[in-house]
Amino acid sequence: MIGTGYVGLVSGVCFSDLGNDVICVDKDLNKINGLKKGIIPIYEPGLDELVKKNYKSGRLRFTTDLSDAIKKSNIIFICVGTPTKKNSNAADLNQVFSVAGEISHNIKNFKIIVTKSTVPVTTGDKIEKILIRKVLKKNFSVVSNPEFLREGEAIRDFNFPDRIVIGTSDKKANKLMKSLYSPLLSKGAEYLNTSRRGAELIKYASNAFLATKITFINELANLAEKIDVNIEDISIGMGLDKRIGGRFLRAGPAYGGSCFPKDTRAIVDTAKQFKTDLSIIRNVIKSNENRSKVLLNRVSKILKNKIRNKKVTFLGVTFKANTDDMRESSSLTMIPSLAKKGANIRYYDPSGYKKDFDKIKNVTFCENIKMACLNADLIIIHTEWNDFKSLNFKSLSKKKSLIVYDMRNILSHEKMKRENIKYFSIGK
Ligand code: UGA
Repeated sequence: MIGTGYVGLVSGVCFSDLGNDVICVDKDLNKINGLKKGIIPIYEPGLDELVKKNYKSGRLRFTTDLSDAIKKSNIIFICVGTPTKKNSNAADLNQVFSVAGEISHNIKNFKIIVTKSTVPVTTGDKIEKILIRKVLKKNFSVVSNPEFLREGEAIRDFNFPDRIVIGTSDKKANKLMKSLYSPLLSKGAEYLNTSRRGAELIKYASNAFLATKITFINELANLAEKIDVNIEDISIGMGLDKRIGGRFLRAGPAYGGSCFPKDTRAIVDTAKQFKTDLSIIRNVIKSNENRSKVLLNRVSKILKNKIRNKKVTFLGVTFKANTDDMRESSSLTMIPSLAKKGANIRYYDPSGYKKDFDKIKNVTFCENIKMACLNADLIIIHTEWNDFKSLNFKSLSKKKSLIVYDMRNILSHEKMKRENIKYFSIGK
């Protein structure tokens, strides 16, 4: 596994847990030394125990020596980052191509090179071109095997995937990949062998479709708020139609994270290169970018346009629960904007303090929920951590006129009413 980021580390550890010998490679020596001591560089429930268990068994190794790892492996997974390029929407593939170059110098017998990183359509073709300069054609096969795991649910998602997608027209490579995944197939995962380009596109299409579903329900939530309809009824009512399905129809703040924003931008960019306009996805991106503004307008309305000197508490700032990841979290837009308007912001997140707000005036991290909520005028539930689902807000804030704005619809309207708290939520 080349790259011990989210995808590489989780997949590597889980493959070793299935009984394979796995070498995880990273050029970051500190990370590798930490992993050998059981220090996990990411926040993912359950991952530390699995790392320790499999490292102890000897099936899982960590190294910075890429060429040695390549020589010792039959299947090489490229799991390095593909961030958005600066000043562009395209994915930056520098790390992928540089790893492909390294691989090309170290192949003497047949190896399967697999892209697990999310890479634009035709990247497999380009990797093949890099390899063919140094390696005999019979000695390698480039395969696409996109990963569909979610942060915070990564181990479960790896072990119980809906489907395994393998993009290759090479029968030998397909057979080996299928046998690697056989323990998951026997638990019910579907296996789909498709073209390499097809597999690359399935990954982007899936993320873009899920982002579309969320954006669709978010826009409908805006309407629901104006016509006295509960958006949750709409999500349930739509989701019961098996053609639609109820998942990813939860209205909330703008979607964030390291995948949906980046991948929607990249697929639009790829399509543009092939002179195709993906207008639906383009508009999803636009609508999502505007979402924080919509929610901020509601905050202004809730506070009757008197934001200056108001004590506003954010419970949760990460882009979703069960992760410490702040990438493209809507709190990064909302908190600075409210602080600029003169609000005093305190925030608490179960995953801890965030350096992202260091340079913003009037923003303070609190060590616990109690400190964050004391005397608050407005409590905003930004992230749906379980920690926030059964709080007694009245006793936490002590303010008579406390307002709660629940951006994740995790609280009961009736309960808040009983406790005499002014309660606002999404799409209601
Ligand atoms: C996403 C995909 O769900 C994974 O299948 C994929 O493998 C991964 O990207 C990736 O490409 O690596 P992830 O970014 O970890 O996973 O997070 P999600 O659980 O998908 O949530 C993304 C965003 O959508 C979050 O901001 C979340 O709060 C939001 N969301 C999700 C909603 O607003 N409503 C929903 O109903 C679901």
